[in-house]
Amino acid sequence: MRQQHQPGDEAEMASRFLPVERLQKGMTLAGDIRVSPSDLLLCSKGDIVNSAMIHKLRSWGIEYAAIEHSYDMRREQREHCVKALRQKVYDLFTAVALRRSPSMLAFTEAIEEMAFAIDRLDLEFFWQALAQLKGKDGYTFVHCLEVGLGALLISKNLGFKREQRVQLCLGATLHDIGKLGVPQAILTKPGALTAEEFTIIKNHPAIGVTLLQSSGMSHPLLLHAVDEHHERYDGAGYPHGRHGDQITLAGQITAVADVFYALTSDRPYRKGWCPLRTFEYIHSQRGVQFSREAADALIDSLSPLYLTGMQVLLSDGSSGTVEEVDPRFPHRPSVRLGNRIVDLRDCPEIAVISA
Ligand SMILES: [Fe+2]
Repeated sequence: MRQQHQPGDEAEMASRFLPVERLQKGMTLAGDIRVSPSDLLLCSKGDIVNSAMIHKLRSWGIEYAAIEHSYDMRREQREHCVKALRQKVYDLFTAVALRRSPSMLAFTEAIEEMAFAIDRLDLEFFWQALAQLKGKDGYTFVHCLEVGLGALLISKNLGFKREQRVQLCLGATLHDIGKLGVPQAILTKPGALTAEEFTIIKNHPAIGVTLLQSSGMSHPLLLHAVDEHHERYDGAGYPHGRHGDQITLAGQITAVADVFYALTSDRPYRKGWCPLRTFEYIHSQRGVQFSREAADALIDSLSPLYLTGMQVLLSDGSSGTVEEVDPRFPHRPSVRLGNRIVDLRDCPEIAVISA
């Protein structure tokens, strides 16, 4: 038995061949899949990949399938993917809060799906979807997803392997799950916390580690992400007061991602910082609050995504759009002003005053 079309034929020009084990639900087949010698039609062009199809292709020994070149899931399917992920995060938190056994398998599958989407660089959609969710829903769940996504991108930038990325993403997504063990009155207290209340808050990383271990999640990267997300490179963090490389890279990555997304988010008591200001802050805290390695990887991964195309006002009174970002100098981008481009790296006298 032989699959009738193979990688390299003309269909590849308008499509992309993927091994069957890399097919994902929601992809669209770019051509019929038949098997010889009977020319039996297994699946048709335009069919949407689902579990039954993958099972059928495997059982027939099919190795590759042509997927539409823009093989992104269609918009509504992608929206469904993000909403389903959010729901799974919500379900997970609720189950833990109610002391029920959460469905870790479903949650892990959702994170793997997210990791796959990131690998395809289908980033713009995820950021837009998260921004929409943020407008509609509570802060915490979206913040968790953002930190998980950010950690995934940073770890990819640093060369983590796929399984490591998924485990770190799981931990980063769940970094604040220990807050479920902190009284609501303390979490939502509008004024300053007393020393005693702050001591209770500082327990949330340890509570999170205990919750996850009791749920059977014990991968070191995952637990480090939760345990160390409030540690600071200079040793001024909590709960352990570790400094420098005493903090694992997983902890360093989660810490910088957590701060980045916290600063850029609107909160009831303050407006979120613009990304440019936030990147500048992250850059200024290299080797202080954050490890250089993690901070540089965050800026390298995220600054082009956030800053390219952004409208900015310059200190000389002109305004334009960010054309290009050098991750080493995220606060000195090239800016298009009408027909000309000004590279702020070469113009120290000009600053971005608002974005
Ligand atoms: Fe936290």
